[in-house]
Amino acid sequence: MPDSPQMKTRVLTGITTSGTPHLGNYVGAIRPSVAASRRDDTDAFYFLADYHALIKSDDPARIARSRLEIAATWLACGLDPQRVTFYRQSDIPEIPELTWMLTCVAPKGLMNRAHAYKAAVEANTSVGEDADAGINLGLYSYPVLMAADILLFNANKVPVGRDQVQHIEMARDIGQRFNHIHGAAWRRTGAGEGDPFALPQAVIEERVATLPGLDGRKMSKSYDNTVPLFEGGSKATREAIAKIVTDSREPGEPKDPDSSSLYAIYRAFASESDAAAYRDALRKGLGWGEAKQKLAALIESELGDAREEYARLMAHPDEIEGILREGAKKARAIAIPFVQTLRETVGLGSLVVPAKKTRGTKKSAEKRARIVSFRDAEGFRFRLLAVDGQELLLSNTFTDPKRSGEITRALLAPDAAPITEAVGETRYALLLDGECIATSPAYADALERDAAIATLMGALESLRS
Ligand code: TRP
Repeated sequence: MPDSPQMKTRVLTGITTSGTPHLGNYVGAIRPSVAASRRDDTDAFYFLADYHALIKSDDPARIARSRLEIAATWLACGLDPQRVTFYRQSDIPEIPELTWMLTCVAPKGLMNRAHAYKAAVEANTSVGEDADAGINLGLYSYPVLMAADILLFNANKVPVGRDQVQHIEMARDIGQRFNHIHGAAWRRTGAGEGDPFALPQAVIEERVATLPGLDGRKMSKSYDNTVPLFEGGSKATREAIAKIVTDSREPGEPKDPDSSSLYAIYRAFASESDAAAYRDALRKGLGWGEAKQKLAALIESELGDAREEYARLMAHPDEIEGILREGAKKARAIAIPFVQTLRETVGLGSLVVPAKKTRGTKKSAEKRARIVSFRDAEGFRFRLLAVDGQELLLSNTFTDPKRSGEITRALLAPDAAPITEAVGETRYALLLDGECIATSPAYADALERDAAIATLMGALESLRS
């Protein structure tokens, strides 16, 4: 693996930026993703899948708007960008780069079986059109781009809706195939002992039922039956709720709670006991009008504050832009060195950087990266040296030698998650738990620097094993 061994489960998911979030997106994806990101045992990667949005859109303004709305929604709903790696797919050039490497191992036959592509072909043939009429290669290879999203960060779990499960299975297949074809070469780069890619698992939250829309069918933009989340303010939410289809029973007449979406939506926001009380009240004759008001009030009690924050963020796109750029930096601190090693693995490494020594054999076992502690005029420090003796890092100065020892131990702990951050074009810094602990020497350019980062990650990995 490119980064530290993970005690935490890495959870990754993306939302395609093609629409405005509605209540169904909130209950089905946004709320559970924010809750998951707060768990101590997860390391969450959430992103705006804006490259995916290009596949179906000829409307740039719609995509731009949707990116802003989805980012603001996630943040307003409590996503903490300090805790989560929160970024935009199109800010990570390593994703399309990996997409190509994966495209070159992805079986075409596998892509033929993708549901979205098959549905488009069937729609064509059923009206006597050419099978591939109007189908672009983006739609066809959509699952490969998605596999790159997931495999680039070695995600373990991918929470998605049921319609996306096949895509996760394809990501597994493609990752496995790459591991099979290139695994040995990968190990020869010295990047790690295992396989390049962890194989992801889809997670479908059984508890979060899909929310029904105004007409009782699944709430979906394509059915035009949605309740807006934040757009249009609480007024728009109330107006949509007023349109939820009910029967014509009068107040006082007993009602069937299950024959309208009202109760199902209520339940998604209420405690179990409150939901039971609501159900009971409908059975005992609560009027539909009053039931709708109760639902609107309940939703407002959960979302009122977030709605205000959403409005504030929408008025400050610069703030969102800044957050996403920071997120991209964090994500690329992992992606750059990983893709660099993958380039070497598939034969696209530098011509001049000598191939790294093979590790793992008995003979080379004594030759390892090492940490050398020393003392100078200002205090105690350490250097991290690569197998070939090249200096990769020089630590900050510590007045207490114990502190220097603590830091090196923390750096080599099995669950340590150090990250690198570029400092200008030619250097990088190493951060542990958000604190800068060491910096690299200066390199000739960003490429050499990124190659050194890859070597560093391999060296740390080897020191841990
Ligand atoms: N295709 C997903 C959707 O439309 C969005 C997506 C893109 C995604 N890349 C991903 C989801 C990677 C999970 C992981 O819902």
